[in-house]
Amino acid sequence: MSKKTHTCGELRAAHAGQTVTLMGWVNRRRDHGNLVFFDLRDRWGLAQVTVNPDQDTAYQTATEVRPEYVVAVTGIVQPRPEGMANPDMPTGDVEVVAQAVEILNPAKTPPIYVHMDGGEDEALRLRWRYLDLRRQRMQHNLQVRHRVYQFIRGYLDARDFIEIETPILLKSTPEGARDFVVPSRFHPGKFYALPQSPQQLKQLLMVAGFERYYQIARCFRDEAIRADRQLEFTQLDIEMSFVEQEDVIQLVEGMFTGLVGAVAPHKRLLSSPFPRLTYAEAMDRYGSDKPDLRFGLPLVNVSDIAAECGFRVFVEAVAAGGQVKGLRAPGCAGYTRKQLDELETLAKSLGARGLVWMALREDGVKSPVAKFLDDGTLTDFVLRLEAEPGDLLLLVAGEPDMVAQVLGRLRLEVGDRLGLRDPDVLAFAWVLDFPLLEWNAEEGRWDAKHHPFTSAKPEDAHLLDTDPGAVRANAYDVVCNGWEMGGGSIRIHRRADQERMFRVLGIPDDRVQAEFGHLIEAFQYGAPPHGGIAPGLDRLVAILADEDDIREVIAFPKTTTAQDLLFGAPSPITDAQLRELHIKLDLETGER
Ligand code: AMO
Repeated sequence: MSKKTHTCGELRAAHAGQTVTLMGWVNRRRDHGNLVFFDLRDRWGLAQVTVNPDQDTAYQTATEVRPEYVVAVTGIVQPRPEGMANPDMPTGDVEVVAQAVEILNPAKTPPIYVHMDGGEDEALRLRWRYLDLRRQRMQHNLQVRHRVYQFIRGYLDARDFIEIETPILLKSTPEGARDFVVPSRFHPGKFYALPQSPQQLKQLLMVAGFERYYQIARCFRDEAIRADRQLEFTQLDIEMSFVEQEDVIQLVEGMFTGLVGAVAPHKRLLSSPFPRLTYAEAMDRYGSDKPDLRFGLPLVNVSDIAAECGFRVFVEAVAAGGQVKGLRAPGCAGYTRKQLDELETLAKSLGARGLVWMALREDGVKSPVAKFLDDGTLTDFVLRLEAEPGDLLLLVAGEPDMVAQVLGRLRLEVGDRLGLRDPDVLAFAWVLDFPLLEWNAEEGRWDAKHHPFTSAKPEDAHLLDTDPGAVRANAYDVVCNGWEMGGGSIRIHRRADQERMFRVLGIPDDRVQAEFGHLIEAFQYGAPPHGGIAPGLDRLVAILADEDDIREVIAFPKTTTAQDLLFGAPSPITDAQLRELHIKLDLETGER
């Protein structure tokens, strides 16, 4: 058999009359009377092959082929007979009438149907990932991923960025998760840690004078896996010297805008330039630091009305320093008991003690708390929430963080139910002015909200010792459709400032020296002012490819239980390996 002359996906009416050789996988075979048809598939698409009994040997072989056989076909491209064209298939005007069919490799009956976008258990898909990846959807997703990478490289190269790789076997780089560690054979009892991000390395590259760096970097974090989180994931890691927040914002905004046009032109950017809001505004209006801005329906503070009303739960919540906030669900006044219960169950699952609803129905405002409120107060709530007839109001009382979380989540639920979260709309936005620190109540100390290398806003720096919680950081996140797409900051670049930050975080000097000594040392040798950002590429590709789980855009992801089902990882290692590493297992106490 000669070489492949064409791809399966490229054949069109214009190829009619040409002799071609195709190679690929049998998608499906159909026998019609005495003709054998099969669709041959490769990365580029499907081509219909027709085999007539008068081609004796080819016909005999064609009757033997089964789905996923690897086959070579030589034949003549012909227009399909009158009325047989398939407008749903790019190659649907033509077929290849085979002269020779060769089985290059047979296949067992596949455990998942490649030609169908299966609804089977995800575990099955991951166990047979190489078959799952043959599916059109997965081929498309990985193509999108490739396109994104090529665009990014071109964009950054054109702006004088240099791509530099950094080590995977390193030391702990704190980004708020647990480390993966690797034992050292050369240094018994010592371990490398896999980087949670190349954060310190890119800062050292700035000290080294590279000025504009990027890397498509694998990061490792031992944390719970979710739809938007994997143990290992990919960041577009960027760092620049002599820049301000605005420079980083402009760079990334230009890149994302260009990317959407180049890779997902069917999507609409809701607003360009991207809107900006402060962390405080985002939390107040949307109950989230990664708000979905494809729709409005902001949360509204009604604490002042609640404080004076006749409903005890509200009054007590405000008196205890809490809040009462509400959300408008347009046109939902007719919700059934069951629908209201579903919302309440959701609210309670997130920590609310209850969910108060008010429905603006034709015969007046209905609410389980109406009996505690006089008409004036009820009207005050309705007016403050700018409710209209037919609306349903949802109110939650309690501690502000919980109220934000519950109503933020209910807002998304309402958005889903009302079809306001259009996947073809991309609502990118910047969230700015994050707090520098976050109180860790369990351990009774301040944690870095972002990471310990983030600088404080100069106008807030004087509060570091007196009111650390009020200090805002030079930190920014880019968000899209309810996802955090990336985060970054302008960094500390002077030794004294970095040491002060470690003191605020309560990290003792000896630990600072052991864990960050190299960085503060470097700051003494001419560290330029610098800053950067790291968009999460798995999330970016997922959004551009219309997927809501990043596993769909990663070739070989882990399951939610942190396993690779194809390789069977993690797995035990041999006693010899353990001995070499000077490791003794104590599985009894080690069991989770
Ligand atoms: P941060 O920790 O915010 O910042 O991470 C940046 C972005 O990486 C993505 N991301 C993840 N994606 C998939 N799975 C995960 N487990 C995961 N964790 C994070 C998100 C997130 O916005 N060094 C800093 C960046 C900087 O300051 O420049 C950092 O890593 O999209």
